[in-house]
Amino acid sequence: MSTARISELAQHVGSTITVKGWVTHLRSSGKVAFIVMRDGTGILQSVVVKSQVTPDVWELFGQLTQEACIAVTGEVKADARQPGGHEVGLTDLSVIGTSPVDYPLQPKEHGVDHLLDNRHFWLRTPRQLAIARIRHEVEQAIHDFFYERDFLRVDTPILTAAIGERSGLFATEYFDEGNAYLAQTGQLYGEAAAAAFGKIYTFGPTFRAEKSKTRRHLTEFWMIEPEVAFNDSDDNMQLQEDLLVSLVGRVLERRQAELKEVERDLSKLECIKGPFPRIDYTDAVATLQQKGSKVVWGDDLGAEDEALLVADYTTPIFVKNYPKEAKAFYMKENPADPRTVLCDDCLAPEGYGEIIGGSQREDDHDKILHRLREEKLPEAAYDWYLALRKYGTFPHSGFGLGLERTVAWICGIQHIRECIAFPRMMNRLKP
Ligand code: 4AD
Ligand code: MG
Repeated sequence: MSTARISELAQHVGSTITVKGWVTHLRSSGKVAFIVMRDGTGILQSVVVKSQVTPDVWELFGQLTQEACIAVTGEVKADARQPGGHEVGLTDLSVIGTSPVDYPLQPKEHGVDHLLDNRHFWLRTPRQLAIARIRHEVEQAIHDFFYERDFLRVDTPILTAAIGERSGLFATEYFDEGNAYLAQTGQLYGEAAAAAFGKIYTFGPTFRAEKSKTRRHLTEFWMIEPEVAFNDSDDNMQLQEDLLVSLVGRVLERRQAELKEVERDLSKLECIKGPFPRIDYTDAVATLQQKGSKVVWGDDLGAEDEALLVADYTTPIFVKNYPKEAKAFYMKENPADPRTVLCDDCLAPEGYGEIIGGSQREDDHDKILHRLREEKLPEAAYDWYLALRKYGTFPHSGFGLGLERTVAWICGIQHIRECIAFPRMMNRLKP
């Protein structure tokens, strides 16, 4: 007997096949019964007619429960009224794995804590499948985008000496070398790779021991970090814009069904076209102050300020050239205003705020050493990074795109914890 996944049934109309999956709904009139199942590719209804199956099959139907793992066998019929356009006239049924009636996710509303405690089951619901497929589409689109532009993918280490961003570090003992820290960014390695290979990107998990319980912070998230030799800050923003336009276009093109499942307002995505406004930090602060924000020149922008700023736009915007003290030590001093650095945050519309942070890198050895010392960073851990500025220093720029924040924006989802299969947050290490 040939087996098929639900998404493949169009090729099997008129034939008898077996489909394996999990029960989602059961109904019976006493003479005719219906089994609705899912297999990760779609939803399928099978019809069981008592007079046309053996007594054993009919009895087995009576024992089925929600989430039991089953195999149904029968003829595939085209039926436009069904969700996937097909129905199976069941002739045989077997149970692969039973499921007791106390399944933790009953067909009713559950609170988010219960859903998170049962994330291993929550993933089985249609909305979570849709989000996972959109995330996968975004990931694949990112790889395609960089591959087509001849970037080299470089996988950077997760265990590092004490280097990275300002936020908290996760430490673990590392043999005789003291502590190792989980990478907060692949950027510094990306810079070394850019001098070796020209245009590179990294795609990997990053870790921040931040005590932030907001809707846009995870302690483990995935970041995509291109680094390009000879790009300046303007080229860098152009690359970010091209990437975002391409990602949104790709999801609109290939993931209509999933966008519908998450009830996304498509008009909000269809207007994501360049050019994205590029606003100077100093102008942004003036605008925010006019709008009643308490922000003062020198502050980094918080989530509320970002939301206030993007409220006037339908596309992402760039806020560029922040004050030095608000940003990381590695950003290049702005020759036109040395109080600021050549950087940008890309803020997504609809209140999503920062999804990308990028900058031109300081390529002057003495300047970056001075900044390291100002920030009281452990100089010894950065010796190799400083040496990049000694042997063939070069102008270069790059950025980090937060995958979960980007997926949350594209899906129109409030909290980024739904945009990764098993979210890690301050108070969540399980499942
Ligand atoms: O702005 P960040 O900290 O920049 C960097 O790490 C640079 N090294 C990137 C680079 O230039 N190569 O982080 C970049 C992005 C943010 O814009 C955000 O989207 C995401 O990473 N991000 C987080 N996402 C989820 N949870 C967190 N705790 C995050 N922290 C940053
Ligand atoms: Mg940032």
